[in-house]
Amino acid sequence: MEKRRGADFLKRLIEVALPIKEISAESVRDKSLRHGHISTLHLWWARRPLPASRAIVFASLVPDPDDAECPQAFQDAIHRLLKGDIYKPIPPQEDTLRNRLLSFIARWSKKQLEFEAGKISTPPAPKEMLDENCLVKWESSINPKIIGIARELVQAAYGYMPTVLDPFAGGGAIPLEAVRLGCNVIANDYNPVAHLIERWTFEFPYKDGKPGIP
Ligand SMILES: C[S@@+](CC[C@H](N)C(=O)[O-])C[C@H]1O[C@@H](n2cnc3c(N)ncnc32)[C@H](O)[C@@H]1O
Repeated sequence: MEKRRGADFLKRLIEVALPIKEISAESVRDKSLRHGHISTLHLWWARRPLPASRAIVFASLVPDPDDAECPQAFQDAIHRLLKGDIYKPIPPQEDTLRNRLLSFIARWSKKQLEFEAGKISTPPAPKEMLDENCLVKWESSINPKIIGIARELVQAAYGYMPTVLDPFAGGGAIPLEAVRLGCNVIANDYNPVAHLIERWTFEFPYKDGKPGIP
């Protein structure tokens, strides 16, 4: 068997667990968002929801922190960046590094948990279903604190920012989220409309857009 070498060969978080229900709830909401959303740039039927794209890019890049071969620097970064109550896993989930990382990606809001427990009778509005501190929430897209944590975690896993390749990038959701996470990105599509959408989505704004927006 080949000996594992560094982060590139480790078991990724996406191979172990992902908060699918929470990501799906925000992905449903994503369909109705307009202001500031790339769907308003040009209609692209196959475009994947941004919360799902952000979650799968992030969870494909970072290792499973509970794996015995996970780099110490990545585990230390989780201890440092995801400490305290904000990302404390919701019982009965144990307080492990993996569950803290999953909580960072997506977690239910207090209101949603109260509704599920029957403590309140009105379901929360779609924008209130997820906790405001989690990565996949729409409002986190331009939140420097949350995007900054995600970038630091990716950096800690590798020691550098990795390159993400999407050879069939279509409407650009996956490369856009990889750029947002601070990665180098190579995107490709043989459809010229998709090619232009991709350039407008994550090339021109990053080269010529306003500074300060993550
Ligand atoms: C399902 S879509 C990708 C959707 C994308 N993930 C998104 O979020 O919008 C597949 C894309 O692959 C492109 N494609 C198919 N065959 C290709 C090829 N041989 N070379 C480059 N692009 C190709 C298509 O033009 C199409 O845009």
